[in-house]
Amino acid sequence: MQQITLRTPDDWHLHFRDGDILSETVAATARCFKRAIVMPNLVPPVTNAAMAMAYKSRIVEAIPDGNNFEPLMVLYLTNDTSVQDIQDAKAAGVIAAKLYPAGATTNSDAAVDGIEALYPIFEEMAKQGMLLLIHGEVTEAEIDIFDREKAFIDRFLRKIVAEFVDLKIVFEHITTSDAVDFVVESPENVAATITPQHLLLNRNDLLVGGVKPHNYCLPVLKRNTHQQALREVVASGSSKFFLGTDSAPHEKERKENACGCAGCYSAWSALELYTHVFDELGALDKLEGFASIHGANFYGLAVNEGTVTLKKETWTVPEEIILPNGKPIVPFYAGQQVSWKLAE
Ligand code: NCD
Ligand code: ZN
Repeated sequence: MQQITLRTPDDWHLHFRDGDILSETVAATARCFKRAIVMPNLVPPVTNAAMAMAYKSRIVEAIPDGNNFEPLMVLYLTNDTSVQDIQDAKAAGVIAAKLYPAGATTNSDAAVDGIEALYPIFEEMAKQGMLLLIHGEVTEAEIDIFDREKAFIDRFLRKIVAEFVDLKIVFEHITTSDAVDFVVESPENVAATITPQHLLLNRNDLLVGGVKPHNYCLPVLKRNTHQQALREVVASGSSKFFLGTDSAPHEKERKENACGCAGCYSAWSALELYTHVFDELGALDKLEGFASIHGANFYGLAVNEGTVTLKKETWTVPEEIILPNGKPIVPFYAGQQVSWKLAE
């Protein structure tokens, strides 16, 4: 196949950040996605309706002229989140709330200690029809970083799913065969997003031949058997799995650092890289479901009206992009070739 046309896709998990960088990050996503679920891990985090609406308006201001991109806002859960916060957020148009176990990832220090304490909040979310988005990793120091996703399933997620049969739960950016199996075996109210990096790479791409800080993200890349499980499940066409880039920009100097930040800025190449993967898998016929249909259906939103077209054409991801503050950022897959290109 030399060309593929898809219903316009959505990105069900990304990080735009805030301030002048929005003119870069929002444009990069709006070039091909109609909607995106915007992660709330700002400093300070987006913990109430007013903050979510203020953030949304800053994002909307950064949308390029003539583009009809729509940000979908998310509340950041803390131990102080109240039932009223959920009701207010829902009334303001916030469609989901994010659970970060404290310390799990970038800007998650404010997050939740003792997940059971949030059960009344989950109950209210189910009542309000708000989705629960979960960063599924435990954070205890004694648990090996490669085992943290599986440990989260066993210690917390199984219980949450058993308890809240009416709550839609998205297990975000899954990375292991354990997570794939868990989602496949769970009831219909449980789904997952998968990033381009976890489909394309495994931990060898992080650690063999020198540390590759631009492939460092959380949850960390896993061994190749886990990568294969993710690839197989997207190729199966299961409607429980959909596109979430987890595009997460950090300036070059913060990635190439003695204590480098986690996150891959994939917005400039993500749709092309997913296409590349589905092509490798002989599953291009499953790409539209993954990118444009399963997520909208799970969220209970209409699928998009327009289309995007990709052509089989090799191009090279730029080595660097200069941010509005003048500093460079290294996009995901920098300097590497991608075999599909978005048509103008
Ligand atoms: C994200 C970030 O930088 O905000 N980083 C990452 O590696 N994915 C946080 C997150 O989604 O965990
Ligand atoms: Zn993320």
